[in-house]
This record gives sequence, structure tokens and C-alpha cells, in this order.
Amino acid sequence: MYTEKLIDHFNNPRNVGCLNDADGTGTIGDPDCGDFIRIYIRVKGDRLSEVVFEACGCPASIATTSVLTELAEGKTLDQAFAISEMDIVRALNGLPDPKIHCSNLGAAALRQAILYYRKKLKEK
Ligand code: FES
Repeated sequence: MYTEKLIDHFNNPRNVGCLNDADGTGTIGDPDCGDFIRIYIRVKGDRLSEVVFEACGCPASIATTSVLTELAEGKTLDQAFAISEMDIVRALNGLPDPKIHCSNLGAAALRQAILYYRKKLKEK
């Protein structure tokens, strides 16, 4: 059973879109179910000023990534990197056990985007 908050994030996902001039991007797919998430980040100073996503996935993957963008925006890169799957589940007031893996996609894509940004920064 999905929580009301999850259903709201699925029906009205926040921060959907793409940033052509993103500072970092991360794409993660789950080969077992075929769903994927792409996250774009914009960084100001050491903080995420914008986090948007594109998704092709189940309701749980879309809702978890939507709430993740809200959790991540305004955080420092370290704080955002540390957002866990359980933080996401808590923010949605729960997620059925068989759907917990769906929350991994957005979190992993965000970490990949931050790593990409940091790598680009080092190369400059
Ligand atoms: Fe694949 Fe939810 S079933 S991410």
C-alpha cells in the first residue's frame, strides 16, 4: 500500500525536467526491471542550487526521486551525497518492502552526478 505522500509525489512529481547546461548528471538503471532515472544538478559554491530529474519507471521510483530532489536542494554536496535510501523512505512516510529497491535509483543517480561534478572540477 502506498502512502498518501507517495501518491502525491507520483501524481505531481517535483523538479521534473532536464538542464542542458547542468554541472553534473547521473543516470542509473535497474537491469532487473528496466527502469531508469537521470538526475541533473546545478551547483553554487558548495551547494546544490537545482536538482531536476527525468524518469522512466514505476510509481515508486518516480515518487522517491521527486522527494529526493526536495531533500537535496540547498544541501552541501557532502550532505546530499549522504542522503540514504532510508531518508527517502522516511520522507515519503514509508514504502512497501518490495519497493525499497526503487528508492536506490534516484539516490544512486544523485551520487553519480555529484561524483561527475567533482571529477570535472578536478580536471579544470
Ligand atoms: Fe523498478 Fe521500481 S520496480 S524501480
